[in-house]
Amino acid sequence: MFQLKNVTRQFGRKIAVNSVTFDIPQGQMVGIIGRSGAGKSTLLRMINRLNDVSSGSIHFGDLEVSSLRGAALRNWQRDCAMIFQQFNLVPRLDVLTNVLLGRLNHRSTVLSILNMFTREERIMAIGALERLGIEQTALQAAGTLSGGQQQRVAIARALMQQPKMLLADEPIASLDPLNAKIVMDALRDINERDGITVVTNLHTLDTARNYCERIIGMAHGSVVFDGQPQDLTAAAVAEIYGSGAEIEESMTSTSIKIPAAQDNTQSAGVKPLALAGL
Ligand SMILES: Nc1ncnc2c1ncn2[C@@H]1O[C@H](COP(=O)(O)OP(=O)(O)OP(=O)(O)O)[C@@H](O)[C@H]1O
Ligand SMILES: [Mg+2]
Repeated sequence: MFQLKNVTRQFGRKIAVNSVTFDIPQGQMVGIIGRSGAGKSTLLRMINRLNDVSSGSIHFGDLEVSSLRGAALRNWQRDCAMIFQQFNLVPRLDVLTNVLLGRLNHRSTVLSILNMFTREERIMAIGALERLGIEQTALQAAGTLSGGQQQRVAIARALMQQPKMLLADEPIASLDPLNAKIVMDALRDINERDGITVVTNLHTLDTARNYCERIIGMAHGSVVFDGQPQDLTAAAVAEIYGSGAEIEESMTSTSIKIPAAQDNTQSAGVKPLALAGL
């Protein structure tokens, strides 16, 4: 069981996350939605300790995640893998090496510095690439791959950490609809087959509805909705995204169901205009 208890994060006088409390049973697939600035990324970053909490506490079973230091903190960051909108690969290194970097926290510093990986680790890395359907790219520089392929490399790297939990911060926001579907299917597969808890920030309602058994809605740093997709009524959506805005599902949707022929219309890093304008 994973728990947040009254977790708050301030940046100066700005309260980015405001007293958030919830539990996540092992193996759940959770989507976090909300307007830009609602605190979604800050929340994920506190979970894997890229940011510290200002107050409150985070627990994984008996482990108090929010107070870990040193080797124990590194172990947690290994157990709690994270993928990002912009993939965070090393573009000039080949795909296989990028994936092997997921093993670093499992290794002694000396071996890591020498960048030496065992035969078993290489076989494991190829296996991860095969699982994501991109083993043919193993020797290519990661920066030469398409966005969708790069995100799959990032997922393969995360799998090498053999995590208990996988965090994803808008993993499909830079991808065309076809690649968005491939990446979300991969996350679902990892969740279902490996029993790994997946917590993903998403900027589109339809994706959250289609893939997540539980949706957490945030507004102004607070949780304003926590339930199943079918409970996400128009009123709940208005509370998450703001009542003044006439939100329709289509506005908050990249619709990963639209034909592949319309791929590549979205430039990297740009969110759908409807949401950016909210
Ligand atoms: N390092 C920081 N320094 C100062 N303020 C920050 C920092 N990180 C986040 N914030 C502020 O905290 C609030 C929440 O930001 P956060 O990035 O968590 O939102 P978000 O929901 O992920 O938004 P988006 O959908 O745009 O990614 C925002 O007002 C943001 O400006
Ligand atoms: Mg964010």
